[in-house]
Amino acid sequence: MPPWTVLNSRACRAFYLTPHVMENFLENNPKFLKQHFYNLINGYAGNIDLRLAAEYMLDSSFDSHLENRENKPLTIADDHLLVETSYLNPPLNFHQTIQKIKQKGYRIILAHPERYLYMDRNDYRKLKADGFLFFQLNLLSPTGYYGKQVRENAEYLLKNDFYTFTGTDIHNLEFHRQAFNIKSLTAKLTDRINILIENNRQLLFN
Ligand SMILES: [Fe+2]
Repeated sequence: MPPWTVLNSRACRAFYLTPHVMENFLENNPKFLKQHFYNLINGYAGNIDLRLAAEYMLDSSFDSHLENRENKPLTIADDHLLVETSYLNPPLNFHQTIQKIKQKGYRIILAHPERYLYMDRNDYRKLKADGFLFFQLNLLSPTGYYGKQVRENAEYLLKNDFYTFTGTDIHNLEFHRQAFNIKSLTAKLTDRINILIENNRQLLFN
């Protein structure tokens, strides 16, 4: 049985779509993304509650999004900002940027920390210490899809309760289907992931 069939499906009635916002995709500002999202919704006849947020890369363009009063950043559940960094290097002024986001009144969801190869266990602990930054597991990471190191990082973070939320990182449904079919998750890890899915549900519906 593919592991995704035992993942908690109660939360799967609502999804946040989180297109990338980064210096490579300058057109992805809130106004442009909202317009495309409304076009999508208008043509959608399903019964899943689709919502729009974004995944912000902490690069040189990030400040302009954070400071934009006219087009405020697209958030999850009003005040949660989903951010990511490069896989190889920390952003310049990483911790100052985190403080700046906090001062603006946002909570931070850090996407797929297990994939940041520059981070170690101390970094995980420091990032979590303030209590306003949450880790989001990429669902494919514990399957080994991104390699052994990322899988091991994900297992460590899962087993030690670092994660609060999870996300699919779906770019292509077929890739995801194959990845979940050929790899496996242990029952223990599946249980942990179901807790994250329940947390997602709480955030979406409260
Ligand atoms: Fe990402």
